[in-house]
Amino acid sequence: MTAALLDGRAIATRIEASIRTEVETLRTVVGRVPRLVVVLVGDNAASASYVKSKAAAAARVGVDAEVVPMPASASTAELVALVTSIAADERGPADGILVQLPLPGHVDAQAVLDAVPPDRDVDGFHPENAGLLSQGRPRFVPCTAAGVQRMLLDADVETAGRRVVIVGRSDIVGKPLALLLTNKGPGGDATVTICHSRSSDLPAITREADILVAAAGRPRLITAAMVKPGATVIDVGINRVDGRLVGDVDFDGVRGVAGRISPVPGGVGPLTVAMLLANTVLAAELRLGRR
Ligand code: GUN
Repeated sequence: MTAALLDGRAIATRIEASIRTEVETLRTVVGRVPRLVVVLVGDNAASASYVKSKAAAAARVGVDAEVVPMPASASTAELVALVTSIAADERGPADGILVQLPLPGHVDAQAVLDAVPPDRDVDGFHPENAGLLSQGRPRFVPCTAAGVQRMLLDADVETAGRRVVIVGRSDIVGKPLALLLTNKGPGGDATVTICHSRSSDLPAITREADILVAAAGRPRLITAAMVKPGATVIDVGINRVDGRLVGDVDFDGVRGVAGRISPVPGGVGPLTVAMLLANTVLAAELRLGRR
């Protein structure tokens, strides 16, 4: 068997087209477009590249995006003050505020993220948004988790009653994705297991999965022997190995066993960016009382 490819770029292009229309409607009806402010701290090459992709995508759909660079030496207090000043609209009304992670080791990342008001939290990391998701009434859903669910919906992969295994328990991907896929409704109603670095006999658990999501940040962790024949395999990993981008899945091996597989690059990554744009438009519409 050779797995069918889940083409994240193609899905993201369709999502961007519909977001462009929503942005144009806002421009016409309320006279302004949604605005996103991204805080980028330090000179982490991967973060700079992600932020560039986010700004480019915003430009494609007509969202006004500003990137605010800060030196790696910035303190927690300086970053909290910056986010607070952005939230006070001192740079113009910001519908969405995003602090690119990771932050330098000396910074209290939670304190900086908590300074983002929940109604501008387009990353969905604020405890209020995490709580709403856990109660099955999501508002801003973390973008990568939302992107994975959108990929499954787009490919008509049934989730109801299916066994999903997520490898990785991060607050950014693993945990919110488990909630999304467990909640009731389309793209939900799954039976979800979260595995992590302390899980024993990982291959025995992953082989049970109808849908296997790799979000551990470990290059090529998932091998063919860990995949049930015909399973849908979603690779969230973005790792740089010898200058090449590779996922958490051994793509060449697993594509011979899986039924569907998402590539890296060109899989979940473009959908993460598309979901950020969707959250930014949602934030603007909520602020304007249009939703
Ligand atoms: N770094 C890696 N993924 C993400 C994300 O989804 N949001 C932010 N802010 N930083 C990240």
